[in-house]
Amino acid sequence: MVNVTYVAASGSRQTVAGNVGESVMQTALNSGVDGIIGECGGSMACATCHCFVDEAWTDKTGTRMDGEEDLLDCAAVEMQDTSRLSCQIRLTPDLDGLVVHLPESQT
Ligand code: FES
Repeated sequence: MVNVTYVAASGSRQTVAGNVGESVMQTALNSGVDGIIGECGGSMACATCHCFVDEAWTDKTGTRMDGEEDLLDCAAVEMQDTSRLSCQIRLTPDLDGLVVHLPESQT
């Protein structure tokens, strides 16, 4: 299992465990984490899975996928350098302990 900590805009933190290969979006939904909607199910069509990768983890989560930036441009909260679509970050053993911050709103 891979632990992921989701930090809400209010500062509250929730750490949950996901499976290798699962996305950061799916892991949040499976565990009832508020703040990620994932309306399109991970097909890169909604941007309701926007997250900000904690700066300590940006090297490990890698760069944005093709097309990700265009969608992030339409996100409810303005894109930042660390913005990612959480449906496009797949859990690997290297990501155990990952921290992502959630925007105030996804819609
Ligand atoms: S879940 Fe829709 S773009 Fe990520």
